[in-house]
Amino acid sequence: MDHPRKPPILPTSVSPPPSPGRLPLLGTAAAFANKLTRRPLRAAIVLALALLVLIYNIGTLSVLRRDLGYIFRPLWDTPEPGFNIIKHFAARGDDDNAAWCAAHGWAARTGGKPVVVDAVPVSSELDMLEIRWREYAPYVDMLLVVEANMTFAGTPKPMHFAAHRERFERIAKDAGAKLVYRAVTDFEPNLPSGSFKNEAHQRQVISNLIAAERGSGAIPPGALIIQSDVDEIVSRDTLKLLTTCEGFPEQMHLQVDNYLYSYDQPLNDGGYWRPRVVTVPAGGEAIDYHHGRGADDMLAGAGWHCSFCFPTLEDMRAKMTGYSHNDRLTSTRLLDEKRLRRRVCEGRDPFGMWAVSGVTVSACSPAQPS
Ligand SMILES: *[C@@H]1O[C@H](CO)[C@@H](O)[C@H](O)[C@H]1NC(C)=O
Repeated sequence: MDHPRKPPILPTSVSPPPSPGRLPLLGTAAAFANKLTRRPLRAAIVLALALLVLIYNIGTLSVLRRDLGYIFRPLWDTPEPGFNIIKHFAARGDDDNAAWCAAHGWAARTGGKPVVVDAVPVSSELDMLEIRWREYAPYVDMLLVVEANMTFAGTPKPMHFAAHRERFERIAKDAGAKLVYRAVTDFEPNLPSGSFKNEAHQRQVISNLIAAERGSGAIPPGALIIQSDVDEIVSRDTLKLLTTCEGFPEQMHLQVDNYLYSYDQPLNDGGYWRPRVVTVPAGGEAIDYHHGRGADDMLAGAGWHCSFCFPTLEDMRAKMTGYSHNDRLTSTRLLDEKRLRRRVCEGRDPFGMWAVSGVTVSACSPAQPS
């Protein structure tokens, strides 16, 4: 198998057989480098071109730093430990609650329907909030909402909910629910990008509000508190199950299916774990409103998480610049209308981040109507 022929510099249609103990590609690269040193002019041209490409894509460097961090996340971050998944069965046609609850390992409630509280931080997503509350209407008793006059990043923003409060008072009235609203006006201005400080503060305000409503008796022991962001919506069927049965854990995650940009673009990635239902304890233990891990048990198929599902690009930009993960915004070019529209249409990450996505892409015509 000895071959006296040197590997060619440029790829030809016939590849040379590898010399023993040496990868053909490495051999070619070495020969190429060798050739370059013998031709300084060509080397200079290649280097100049490489430099030009680098300068043109200088923004790419920060993108690379950002994305490599996420790509190699499995190396520097421990993955979310597994959950004990509770299978979720559809309601039975025969209204046999005992059998339906038993299928989940629970029992039918004996004490009547519990008070159901939806507690949610809101920024600008009013349509999503309406969809959510209309979904919850038959089962919800208290709608608890908190908004701020600054973004999480600490820049001034309108209080959209306050400006449209009547719309939501009507929805609450239709649902027979009490609306509890609080404005946060003491966010810290101009936080460094990627800070979660204001977001944590807003959640703390919700915790305090829950404590106040418990104090007044409006949230009694045994009440169910749904803890999830606006775009993480628990299905009506799930609320029916939770209000029909008892015996599930005091804290339980609710697995929701992921969608990106629109409910017709499912990610089919196994869903999202953060939404949670908390049963108000009989004792006085505080209830911490948060978006993290609270339990190991998780009810499957409990709803939908539609991420970046906004009616306008302007709403999308507001989120990209204002939310806690705005450190992903490495260049204002990412906000450019044409590029943003393209990424949305193709179902790619809003920040152009490298991601394996299972989005079923809707047809992207070159000229989308605005
Ligand atoms: C938020 O509201 C507070 C209290 O009304 C006010 O002092 C503050 O200036 C407001 N901040 C912005 C950015 O509008």
